[in-house]
Parts: sequence; structure tokens; C-alpha cells
Amino acid sequence: MANPTPSLSALILAAGKGTRMRSHVAKVLHPFLGRPMVLALVDTAFRAGVDRVVTIVGHQEEVVRKKVSHAFPSWDVRFATQAEQKGTGHAVQCGLAEAGPAKSILVIYGDTPLLAPKTLAALIDQHRRSGDVLTVTTFRTADAAGYGRIVRTADGAVRRIVEHADASDDEKKIDEVNAGMCIAQRDVLAAALADLAPHNAQGEIYLTDIVQKLTHRGEQVGSFTLADPIEAAGVNTRAQLTALEEVALQRLRALWMDRGVTMQDPSSIRIEREVEIGSDTVLGPNVQLLGKTRIGHFCRIDAGAIVEACDIGDHVHVKPYCVATGARLGSGSEIGPFAHLRPGTVLGEKAKIGNFVETKKADIGARSKASHLSYLGDCVIGRDVNVGAGTITCNFDGFEKHQTVLEDGVFVGSDTQLVAPVRVGKNATIAAGTTVTADVPEGALVLSRAPQSLKAGYYEKRRKPREHGLAHHHEKAGDKPAEKAPEKSAADAADPGSDKLNGGGI
Ligand code: UD1
Ligand code: MG
Repeated sequence: MANPTPSLSALILAAGKGTRMRSHVAKVLHPFLGRPMVLALVDTAFRAGVDRVVTIVGHQEEVVRKKVSHAFPSWDVRFATQAEQKGTGHAVQCGLAEAGPAKSILVIYGDTPLLAPKTLAALIDQHRRSGDVLTVTTFRTADAAGYGRIVRTADGAVRRIVEHADASDDEKKIDEVNAGMCIAQRDVLAAALADLAPHNAQGEIYLTDIVQKLTHRGEQVGSFTLADPIEAAGVNTRAQLTALEEVALQRLRALWMDRGVTMQDPSSIRIEREVEIGSDTVLGPNVQLLGKTRIGHFCRIDAGAIVEACDIGDHVHVKPYCVATGARLGSGSEIGPFAHLRPGTVLGEKAKIGNFVETKKADIGARSKASHLSYLGDCVIGRDVNVGAGTITCNFDGFEKHQTVLEDGVFVGSDTQLVAPVRVGKNATIAAGTTVTADVPEGALVLSRAPQSLKAGYYEKRRKPREHGLAHHHEKAGDKPAEKAPEKSAADAADPGSDKLNGGGI
């Protein structure tokens, strides 16, 4: 929601390309725990109590704008373009106008995804209470290379920040460094930024140069110390992205274990940030729970399952190597191993989807089963339906998708094709091998397979002589076994009593 009079605006610096990522994708768009990295910072800013967030965009700015606006539709998000990246000070200059009349401005770098809202809130709080014109964030590190060093006066006050590239040998020995985020009174910041110059080793307009400007004028600059420096760690390379993501993953795993989830081989398990898991659920090795996935209590998610944006009830068993996306699994349902549930799949309570079954836009009722080797797309399947092995819903005619409806209690024999649109009435039976092309009324038996024909003694008469080299190599065309009348008439075949009933086969 646009906020005409924000009291605190944040600028998120996200214009850089991230050259060291060696990517066609701007650095801040790289996913971190399932969402573009920049969104983590926007989210953190709002959670810390910021009223308006201005993202400074440059590389792939259209995409960054779209992602941010889309993720925060009801928040006051704005953008400022920094067409050429002339440094962090320049980036802040570009964003000031969009920040509006806020009393204070918070500056955050767009590549520090572990920054926590409560840390930012503490920085804001300290700044407000201290009355300092500017508060910078610092931490101590044995490996300060690359960071700006905090230069203090004899009595410990912050005097200036010197960038690594510009630091003297003595200054390089300083182990207190600039973490990046800072907060300043708007008017003071604007004035200090106005005459920054790129007179330094990198030829950039450094935001950090404002510190010296202010202290020179006798202003007091405060410092806020990070308890955990990992929060300031930046992503500049793929290795750093993975390392920071691993830190976040370890925290999420620990959190869910604390809440009663068992994990076998936790370090192999990926859990994204929006996932929720009920207590007494067990996650096997190499499980990935992605996007907005909710899992109930007493579930088993076995090895190698990849579950994204799914809603899973209680006592659900996801067997090894299933892939489920955008599906709803009712309590007590079972899938897999090796099942593929695509978006729009809904399983009723105690429904069962077995191995090598693919479903899509499939609403499958309570206790219904498709245990082996099927494709079920664009279908509504009632309760207590048994879908035999190899059943296919032929939902696509080359132009459009059509729906298949199987009402409650239908029995589908193995190797059935359901040519949609088609409806099979309650308690109807479809014989194995049938191609259903027209609606089937309630309670009927339908079958469309060719009647079986049989020629007795074929081996002795035909195969054996050939196999023993007794027949001519080239038989004449007319010399094939004669097509004999089927031993079972069509009428016989239509009688369910003459068929063998076993498993999914009629
Ligand atoms: C900066 C600080 C340094 C601090 C370090 C912490 C300056 C001058 N230096 O150095 O004191 O110790 O961060 O990690 O601020 N960006 C833009 N536009 C630009 C330049 C940068 O949007 O013109 C963005 C980048 O995309 C990045 C962030 O600002 O997200 C920081 O820029 P970066 O070049 O990484 O600064 P550092 O050299 O790391
Ligand atoms: Mg950096």
C-alpha cells in the first residue's frame, strides 16, 4: 500500500550485475531457499518495521521490478533506476527521491540474504534512541580482506571508513569492518551525499565516504555491532551462495526437528522457508520439500521424494522417489514409489497412487486406487474406484483437453483407454483392454477388445519344423496359418461369466 508519509524508508541496493557469479541472471535474482535473493531483503526490511522499500535496480531491472512487486502486492514498494553502477554512494543518490519524506533512511545491500529482521530492528532502535545522525553496522573478523575498515578516534568514536583498496598497511590491520547496512537521518544523508566524489582506487562513489564528511563537521556517527557476522555475509560467487544457503538450511532443519519432525540424514534434506511440517512426521534421506508445502502429522516422506507446493494431510505415506507438485493429498493416502503427481491432483482420504502413475488435474475420491503404470489427466474419479494397471485417460485430441469422469465404485480393468470426453456411471465395470469411446451407464459392463482366436497345435505344425530347418526358407504368402474362426464367440466374450477375474483384470 502506498504510504505518502513514511517515517522510515529503506533503500535496497540491487543494481549490480554480480560479475563473479558468471551468470546471465542478475545476482539478486538468483534463488535463495526458493525465492530470488532480493526478496529476502525486502521481506526483512518490512518485518523490521520499515514503511517503504525502494529497490535500486539496474541489471535486468524489469525482472527485478516484477518479482518484487508481485511478491509484495500490498506493501509500499518502489523502485529507482541506477542505469550505470558508479558505486554504493551513487546508488543511494539515485534512490533518495523515491524514499519520500521519511525522517530516516535505512540502506541495505541486496546480496546479504541472512540478515535477520530482529537484527535490523535492533539497529533501527539503537539509531532512534541514540540521536546519532548516522549509525553504521560493524563486526570483527580475522579475515577482513575486501571489507571497509572502521577507523576510530583515540577515544573510540567512529571517524571514517576506509575501503580495502584504499587502506594503508596499518589500516588493513584493523579487524573491525563495515557490515554494509546503515541508517541515517534523511536530510543529513542527502546533504552528505551531494558532493561525494569518486577520488579513490576503484573510481567509485563510495557511500562509506559520508562517514568522514559527517565526523569532520563534528557530527556524531554511531556504530551497531553484529552479534553474528554471518548476517552480513554477502553473495558474490556461486560457492558463497551455496554456503549461505546451507547455513539457512541447517537452521530450518534444526527448527523442524525441534518441533517434532524426525529426519534421517538431515544434511541431505532440503526444506524451503515456507514449508510447514507436523510433528511425528519422518523425512527420509534426500527429501526436498519446496515452495509453499504443508505436511501434516505422522506422515512418512521417503527417500528422494520431491514435494513442491503441496498440501498433505495426516498419516500420508509418500514412498521413495515420488515427484509431487501442486497436489493435495488427503489423510491416509499413499503414493509411489516413483509416482508423479502434477498440479491439480487431489487425492481423497486413503486414496492410493502406485508406482509409475502420473496424475494431472485429477480429482480422485476417497479409497480409490490406481496402483500401477497409469496416466490420469483431466479427470474426476469418485470414491472406491479401482483403476487397473496401464489405464490411460486419453485427454488430448491434438487440439484441446477433455475430461474423463469415473463415478463412485467403477472398476476399470487393466490396459483400458478412456477417450475423453467420457463418463462412466456408478459401479460400471470396464473389461481389461477396453477402449472406452462413449459414455457407460451405471452398473453396466463395457468391453471393446477383439475376441480371442486360437489355433491348436501351432508349435508342432508350424514352429517346430521351422526351428529344425525342415521347412522351406521362403514360404509363399498364402502359406501362413489360416485365420480361423475364433473359438470364443463375441457373445461369449460379452458374458462376464466367461472371463477370468483376477486382480485388476476382467
Ligand atoms: C561494500 C562497502 C564496504 C563493506 C562491504 C560489506 C562501500 C563503498 N563499501 O563494499 O565498506 O565492508 O560492502 O560487504 O559501500 N551496488 C549497486 N550499485 C552500485 C554499486 C553497488 O546497486 O553502483 C550494490 C551491489 O549490487 C551490492 C551492494 O551494492 O549488492 C554492495 O556493493 P559492492 O560492490 O559489493 O560493495 P563492496 O565492495 O562489497
Ligand atoms: Mg560486496
